[in-house]
Amino acid sequence: MRRKIVAGNWKMNLTFQQAKELALRLNTWVKTNKPVAEIIVAPTHLYLEQLNKDLANSHIIVASQNVSAMENGAYTGDVSAEQLLSIGTKMSIVGHSERRAYHHEQDKYIGKKITHLYEHGMSPILCVGEKLEDRDSGRHFDVVEEQITVALERQNVDDLKNLIVAYEPVWAIGTGKTASPDQAQEMHAFIRKTIGGQHGISVANSTSILYGGSVNAGNARDLFEQYDIDGALVGGASLKLDDFTTIISARK
Ligand code: 13P
Repeated sequence: MRRKIVAGNWKMNLTFQQAKELALRLNTWVKTNKPVAEIIVAPTHLYLEQLNKDLANSHIIVASQNVSAMENGAYTGDVSAEQLLSIGTKMSIVGHSERRAYHHEQDKYIGKKITHLYEHGMSPILCVGEKLEDRDSGRHFDVVEEQITVALERQNVDDLKNLIVAYEPVWAIGTGKTASPDQAQEMHAFIRKTIGGQHGISVANSTSILYGGSVNAGNARDLFEQYDIDGALVGGASLKLDDFTTIISARK
């Protein structure tokens, strides 16, 4: 089933104290307001263990921002799926454009991360999205199709039930320049069709596709009105409780 989801990617922001406070205040808001959307927050790895404890039995899922493509071993600085799971983390963002840009992560490698997550009973939020030059040259569908098909090609169809994909055009991330609802809808429908072609209609229809890229309290509602937009992956605005809860409330 397609789930309505609003996720906050906190990136490399917030001190431990600030993250804990934001998580606890968000939890209080969720208990009072009982939103329709499922809520996910992704703090830095360092805070996962504490936030998993603080948000245990809440309606907020705590996800990691990344996971190693390797199993445990001599990979200095990496964190494996098994290690994340051992502190209660069950979900991880993979393939974020900042990992692709600054750490040269490529689709096959991202696919390995997804496989490791599934091997440990965990699940991915797969991020895809084109750069401005791709859109300007009309290659945006080709780029996103390749990102999706390569990352998912070795996955088991049964594992892909309830997949979460985030469409985050690189030109919209942190720029204040959101994709228009029509642009986002067009790409979300294309992503669903691509997944359907590769893995079948039932996987496509159970995939939740989130839009990310300068989502804020003012534009979320129009985006959520689009048929194939199931929710949002929010960066900057997820760091401010009022903005994030306004976005969550917009997901009816
Ligand atoms: P912004 O919402 O800050 O543009 O970031 C989007 C994002 O990259 C979420 O993963």
